[in-house]
Amino acid sequence: MSKIGSYDERVKNFNWSISEKELGYKEGDNINIGWYCSDRICDQGKADKIALNWEGLGGKIKQYTFNYVRLCSNTIGQFLRDLGLKDEDRICLFMDKIPELYLSFVGVMKIGAIAQPLFSAFGDESLLVRMDNAETTAIITQRKHVKKVRKIRDRMPYLKHIIIVDYDGKHPLQEREIAFDMEATEKIEKLDIFPTKAESPSVLHYTSGTTGQPKGVKHVHYSLIAQYLTSKWVLDLKDDDVYWCTADPGWVTGTSYGIIGSWCIGVRQCVLDVGFSPLSWYKFMEKYGVTVWYTAPTAIRSLMKAGEGPIRENDLSKLRHMVSVGEPLNPEAVVWALKVLGMPFLDSYWQTETGCIMISNYPGMEVKPGSMGKTFPGIEGCIVDTETFEKIEESGKIGLIGIKPGWPSMMRTYWKNEETYQSKFQNGWYIPGDRAYIDEDGYYWFVGRDDDVINTGGHLVSPFEVESALLEHEAVAESAVVSKPDDVNMEVVKAFVTLKPGFEQTDEMELKIMNFIRKKLSPLAMPQEIEYLDKLPKTRSGKIMRRLLHAKEWGEEIGDTSGLEDD
Ligand code: WT7
Repeated sequence: MSKIGSYDERVKNFNWSISEKELGYKEGDNINIGWYCSDRICDQGKADKIALNWEGLGGKIKQYTFNYVRLCSNTIGQFLRDLGLKDEDRICLFMDKIPELYLSFVGVMKIGAIAQPLFSAFGDESLLVRMDNAETTAIITQRKHVKKVRKIRDRMPYLKHIIIVDYDGKHPLQEREIAFDMEATEKIEKLDIFPTKAESPSVLHYTSGTTGQPKGVKHVHYSLIAQYLTSKWVLDLKDDDVYWCTADPGWVTGTSYGIIGSWCIGVRQCVLDVGFSPLSWYKFMEKYGVTVWYTAPTAIRSLMKAGEGPIRENDLSKLRHMVSVGEPLNPEAVVWALKVLGMPFLDSYWQTETGCIMISNYPGMEVKPGSMGKTFPGIEGCIVDTETFEKIEESGKIGLIGIKPGWPSMMRTYWKNEETYQSKFQNGWYIPGDRAYIDEDGYYWFVGRDDDVINTGGHLVSPFEVESALLEHEAVAESAVVSKPDDVNMEVVKAFVTLKPGFEQTDEMELKIMNFIRKKLSPLAMPQEIEYLDKLPKTRSGKIMRRLLHAKEWGEEIGDTSGLEDD
């Protein structure tokens, strides 16, 4: 405890220069995330230390040292450069959690290009809207996903290269496609790292809002300063730790803390690229001796369901620190963990936009199950009034979370959407769009989102995107998408649809529509239930009343329906 300092002590003496100093960075210097995550660690004498333990399907395993991460990322960087790719080009990373994903990320950073990671379960439509917005120059992908790219490539004239990392030579490569075999390529010992500065763009992550297309959140290399320190102080990463972040780098947790956080400290991390099962997770933790674990409430709830049996079958005695993120962590999960694993899950709260943890249960601080904890030292937060955005001084009063702008990993804009970016600031506060209250001890308690975005299993889904995709199905006339409660995922997607004349409201049709969305968007966005209506509830001006359908699903008071269209 005393080593990292108590929370109050840290708050009192806080300055981001603590992080800058530890990283040997001074204002005006070059700062490159790729260099910090590999070359610098090697320079510190940790070249032969294991950086990554990877396990995939069928028990396939791989192990990489920091030196090998350095060499592989150099090699990928050189390959991309030889293709003519350069700084600020958007390079999409569209892979499962294979080693190439992690190494490409570092390689892309090194040449100063912008990494655009996208979740590999995305369908062609999800991929297209995001690549279209970013005008992506190249995509790095796998054989199993290239079909989706081929389907949309004609609509992406800006996309020059489709790089396949596991090409097997069986079928001819098609237009713009090129194979890259990392293992077989001769490694580049020295790469000229692009001299990125603090404000040079690094990562573009897409996040969904209620209206409009997903927004590209632009981050810069200076974000490292915040990701480094939060990894040390909240995830409590230390040199001899074995760290496992279960998030996919298609989402921000998987890059900020699934690549950058541990590697810039020189901490070994583990990646498991197989589907979820409680037993395989515990076995993985035993096998590699995981000490620090960063995961999400949906996974924790599934583990709780599986009970203590699979825990007892494995030796998890090395585990010493567990942190959760992405959705509300139920108090029962904290208490359960304390009972069966001997320590609580510490909740943490942040967003794609914030780039690093904003609020958390700081190690050593008293845990209040159900609370997100307190703001990270150096982060000034409060609750503001939902209408006036004035700070609410009273404890216990619900309002919107407000955060004082200015921390290193704050997004710099939404890609080609400065207007929406500006709208996130009110009365001098950055407004993440979540409702909460602060108790008398300064702990934050999450209440709910302030918009219609669905948080399913820790992943945000835009009702707008699902509604638009539904309308593309030949049978659907109108649609309204809301969340419905779910034991494990907390919320899942539910769609109400009216069908065009000549189509029947059958179970078969429901399955067809579900599949259509799964393929086009993703399994996350697929409605778990489709309810047929003859007519959607609308206001007199013709707007669909999602609020009414939402209230019905959650068994809430329907409230004022005076605007509702008459029958
Ligand atoms: C939204 C951000 C960066 C984390 C991964 C998700 C919700 C996040 C918590 C928490 C309750 C949470 C918020 C937030 N959220 N953490 N600990 N308790 N809700 O990043 O996809 O940008 O989603 O997730 O609503 O705004 P994201």
